[in-house]
Amino acid sequence: MSKISANELRSKYLNFFKSKGHTIIPSASLVPEGDASVLFTTAGMHPLVPYLLGQEHPGGKRVTNVQKCIRTGDIEEVGDNTHLTFFEMLGNWSFGDYFKEDAIKWSYEFLTNKETGLGLPLERLAITCFAGDEDAPKDTESAEIWKSLGVPEHRISFLPKEKNWWIAGTTGPCGPDTEMHYWIDDGTPASREYDVNEPKWVEIWNDVFMQFEKMPDGKLVPLKKPNVDTGMGLDRVLAVLNGQSSVYDTEIFKGMWEVLALSQDIMTNDEVKKARIVLDHVRAGVFMVSDGVEPSNKDRGYVLRRLLRRAMVMARMLNLKDKWLEALVGKVIAEYASAYGELVEKSEQIFQVILAEQKKFEATLEKGLKQFELRIKSQESRISGTDAFDLYQTYGFPKELTKELAVQAGQVFDAVKEREYEEEFKKHQELSRTASAGQFKGGLASHSEKIVRLHTATHLMNAALRQVLGENVWQKGSNITEERTRFDFTHGQKMTPEEIAAVEALVNDWVARDLQVKKETMSLEEARNLGAIGVFGEKYADTVSIYTVYDPNTNEVVSREFCGGPHVEHTGVIGQFKVQKEEASSAGVRRIKAVIE
Ligand code: ALA
Repeated sequence: MSKISANELRSKYLNFFKSKGHTIIPSASLVPEGDASVLFTTAGMHPLVPYLLGQEHPGGKRVTNVQKCIRTGDIEEVGDNTHLTFFEMLGNWSFGDYFKEDAIKWSYEFLTNKETGLGLPLERLAITCFAGDEDAPKDTESAEIWKSLGVPEHRISFLPKEKNWWIAGTTGPCGPDTEMHYWIDDGTPASREYDVNEPKWVEIWNDVFMQFEKMPDGKLVPLKKPNVDTGMGLDRVLAVLNGQSSVYDTEIFKGMWEVLALSQDIMTNDEVKKARIVLDHVRAGVFMVSDGVEPSNKDRGYVLRRLLRRAMVMARMLNLKDKWLEALVGKVIAEYASAYGELVEKSEQIFQVILAEQKKFEATLEKGLKQFELRIKSQESRISGTDAFDLYQTYGFPKELTKELAVQAGQVFDAVKEREYEEEFKKHQELSRTASAGQFKGGLASHSEKIVRLHTATHLMNAALRQVLGENVWQKGSNITEERTRFDFTHGQKMTPEEIAAVEALVNDWVARDLQVKKETMSLEEARNLGAIGVFGEKYADTVSIYTVYDPNTNEVVSREFCGGPHVEHTGVIGQFKVQKEEASSAGVRRIKAVIE
């Protein structure tokens, strides 16, 4: 098989789809524009969501691109043969134009054709299709197309939603997909059938057939025109094409191994993994900084800080020499100079930001590691959540890093410790908030018993409004004083007197039933899966607290909201609920003032 470079692969892909009527468009930034729901662009489709939902793209109905992406969801796997936090995704798009037939035909041609495509042998390819469920039928249509092109039936498997369905996050365009897997070239023949647990089958390309929009309430609404979104991981395909068993063996990383004077051939497995983490994380860091991210303790900045600091700890364990980071950053920039000119343009800033972070962390790294060792020894090998918080607070060790070091030292860092850490973190936040509130306002707002009752009544009102007016009601804001609660929510027209009466009746019924109120802390994902609702457009942390109002006898859940509290423990103490006023607040937003007696 002829060798192919990253630059050749990019241009081969783009030109192939150009020949099929696609417009070549540039990569968007890693930092999503105007989308507060995600920290980074995680797939090629991200920046294209408006067009997948029907807006016209200036490039027409068919476009193709190479998109920079960051995914940190699989960070534990980074360092194996296939996982990376930064990667490039080659993609071709149909905005309501071609669908399954052409998408699959072109994927097949590009993969297998020796002249126009990559010339991969069919006997090393396997296909998966969506198995079907209550949302959408089994995708036999795609399977039939693959078969008609020559893929044998035994190489086509049907898998459930967890595998063959694509959505970015929890809402937005989505649909079934068909994935292409390649049996890596290690001299062994491919197994007869695709096996999801066999690491030699590597996913190289994914064609998503976007047919629905998933709404915040979980409903799937068919799109007016279905789209195609495909994604092919450049590093993986490059490895496959060059007969390499790992993405870290490709020419992209070659120079990076060299500047660190490391060779995978003479390292232990553990060292190889650490070194791969160093390369991956620094590469990701360079790209993040070039798109304007700076290390901090929040959101994107925290992800960047975490990656860079983790790389620094690994580098120390590998005894990398002084200036290793500078040399590596320089190499990453040089490697991508022709494909991503912004790295060269911003090189001064990239060096400055990353080396400043190194200076900052290295000042405490040594001491932090010593502290870590001491705590492990003095506490019978137990690192607590509070220790992890101290290490973060005093030495700048991201929690995830301490957790990883603890696990490496043979400890468990379980949910209890996570919670302990979060509690310390919150306490600290509250302390600093109290301090600044005291400075500016002369003390914190009081949580009188009346305000607490009104607060729970507001949750019940929110739930009642959604029952009476429908699930298009979303809280836009609220304000509670000793006298009343004021609640703004999305709704297109004035409420009728009957609707208002129905809301009052529901709330008063829940009060009369004396329902239980409980607080729980969980991951944002768990909370969303449980259907917790929050304030429209609000961003939530990864760990959230949820208040649930429920009937302990039947377990019926009346309300479940993201909220910091405080709330009453059972609804019987709230009192009689009454709406005083319902009026317009702004376009499409209504305002209710309500009281309890
Ligand atoms: N959006 C699809 C993916 O990321 C192509 O796999």
